[in-house]
Amino acid sequence: MLEKIQKLIEEVNALQAKNAEEVEALRIKYLSKKGEITAVMADFRTVPAEMKKEVGMRINELKNLAQEKINALRDAVQVEQTAGSDLDLTRTPYPVKLGARHPLTIVKNEIVDIFSRMGFTLAEGPEVEDDWHVYSSMNFADDHPARDMQDTFFVEAHPDIILRSHTSSVQARVMERQQPPIRVICPGRVYRNEAVSARAHCFFHQVEGLYVDKNVSFADLKQVLLLFAQEMFGTDTKIRLRPSYFPFTEPSAEMDVSCTICGGKGCSMCKGAGWLEILGCGMVDPAVLEANGIDSTQYTGYAFGMGIERIANLKYQVKDLRLFSENDVRFLDEFKSAN
Ligand code: PHE
Repeated sequence: MLEKIQKLIEEVNALQAKNAEEVEALRIKYLSKKGEITAVMADFRTVPAEMKKEVGMRINELKNLAQEKINALRDAVQVEQTAGSDLDLTRTPYPVKLGARHPLTIVKNEIVDIFSRMGFTLAEGPEVEDDWHVYSSMNFADDHPARDMQDTFFVEAHPDIILRSHTSSVQARVMERQQPPIRVICPGRVYRNEAVSARAHCFFHQVEGLYVDKNVSFADLKQVLLLFAQEMFGTDTKIRLRPSYFPFTEPSAEMDVSCTICGGKGCSMCKGAGWLEILGCGMVDPAVLEANGIDSTQYTGYAFGMGIERIANLKYQVKDLRLFSENDVRFLDEFKSAN
């Protein structure tokens, strides 16, 4: 018996395996129910009493040795097999750091989402535009100051090619290829020739909206904007429309919302006024409809436009506009939970 155990110990010590199948075959050969070591253990009953202690110890030694040896072989072939695969065993076990959405993307998505629920579809267009889509089709007079070099970036080789200064150009592109009903929302980056400071930048982002159909009225505009303001800033939010002027709308208005911090009582955010200006809007000037191939005797429409940075500032109280375009991860990380 002891000889047999000794022979098995030597055998087990010398075991080798090239792959997982061979390891499994060895496990079956020695340790399974019908394995050789199991057979030796079954014979233990027949060992004379005075030998039991020694034989028992040797059997235990054999069994433990076999288990350790087979486990070690299994680990070895696994490492070899994964070394040739895509698994990167040197990768850090710590979780990979996740990025966060940009605050302007978060706010843009929210605005688009609110208007999508009211039936607006998304429209996008080029940032490098021609004068027609940015200004002429929008009823800007030839000598309008916005066309000035101080406000508009020109692409030097083409005096007619500019960087769009508002996304109204996308509305023009929609109107020229589609008859009413039109209900679109146009988000995008726009450029203005301004000195960069905490309060102004040479590019920023807008969302403009356009609705053209039969019998569209100012009351429709007001209701849609009220709903938007309440979805964006909370159901207690009030709106106020003040007369204004834009070349492409008549009548035109600027819209304020009740202060998002003090609710209208007056605080440092709203400079004591209780109101915060957030967008421009109005009824589409019939001249704009005609310039874009839409019959202004049949159709009316409204339009509105807002700066995404402005809305983001109200939501997150970002004091310096430049933070939005500097890609400082300490700033961007603050919006992780808002994703
Ligand atoms: N296009 C205007 C701007 O750039 C915003 C606006 C859009 C105003 C539509 C009224 C109607 O500032």
